[in-house]
Amino acid sequence: MALPAFLTQLGELLDSAVESFKKAAHVEDLEKSRIEFLGAKQGQLKTVQKQMGGVDKEDRPEAGKKLNEVKQAINAAFEAAKERLLGGGDTTTAEAFDVTLPGETLTLGHVHPITQTIEEIKDIMGRLGFSVAEGPEIEDEWHNFEALNIPLEHPARDPLDNFYLAAANVAASDKTKSQNALLLRSQTSTVQIRVMEKTPPPVRIVSLGRVYRPDEVDATHYPMFHQIEGLLIDTQVTLADLKSVLRLFASSYLGEDVHIRFRPSFFPFTEPSVEVDMNWQGGWLEMGGAGMVDPNVLSAVGYDPEEVTGFAFGLGIERLCMRRHGINDIRELYKNDVRFLAQF
Ligand code: DAH
Repeated sequence: MALPAFLTQLGELLDSAVESFKKAAHVEDLEKSRIEFLGAKQGQLKTVQKQMGGVDKEDRPEAGKKLNEVKQAINAAFEAAKERLLGGGDTTTAEAFDVTLPGETLTLGHVHPITQTIEEIKDIMGRLGFSVAEGPEIEDEWHNFEALNIPLEHPARDPLDNFYLAAANVAASDKTKSQNALLLRSQTSTVQIRVMEKTPPPVRIVSLGRVYRPDEVDATHYPMFHQIEGLLIDTQVTLADLKSVLRLFASSYLGEDVHIRFRPSFFPFTEPSVEVDMNWQGGWLEMGGAGMVDPNVLSAVGYDPEEVTGFAFGLGIERLCMRRHGINDIRELYKNDVRFLAQF
């Protein structure tokens, strides 16, 4: 065989091998091509190599040199294809991985601002020595009203102002007798009763959770909202203790020196009762109610009002959260618009 014919064969072999390795889209393709061109027995390179014996003797060194070059080039093309398919760790696609492309930003989940507020308040109150108590959201009239010194004829028990779970029964029943009907709790004060029923004094708890009232929805009202309830029972507890606890709490949560103002008020379960205002950024904000636990409440849970006294308070969590973050519409908190929620 003449040298030019052999060289032509080598050239064609190189071209088709390189082309075949380049086209391989999967490792399996590449392996097929490798066997076809580099296979030890039937590979095309082997076949061409065998033909070298037919090349004129004086041309053989030249033919051998070219053969070696082509062999190296084919091997290099195979290695490059292998690197392309396996190098990025991805064996399923032939697309090259462009390391200069900007990365994809992962959007991480986010704790709701109300949950954040609850966690932070628990933390602050924990440092003040209060442990966390929980109570059910579906309550009976005993815990929501009766034991809290809210008698049957009290307007707070009106079916129109509460989410009774068996409203028809309540309306039809004898209004002078309590049926101990179930309702969605309208206040977290229920947990005071549940804790005192189970624990002998002293008591030092907070309870944070949802409450429900059929209010018209507007910027400051929502039919479901959250309260923090506090209860401290011991001997010789005074209103001054209440004031300093609330002041420490408010300063910790709002991050400034916050003053507390009490205004005389009335709640069936406290005597005396006060409305709590906080002085913050130059104005007085109404935060909730508080007072000294009424002796009737202590008796209802089996405590001796001659022996122990205590204070209780109930504050709106949405209100605290909204003040702190400058949110002016409670509805924003419950639209579940992530563009709003992700800001906190
Ligand atoms: N439960 C009252 C309400 O929802 C708030 C409240 C007032 C709670 C006085 C208390 C308290 O513990 O002592 O309006």
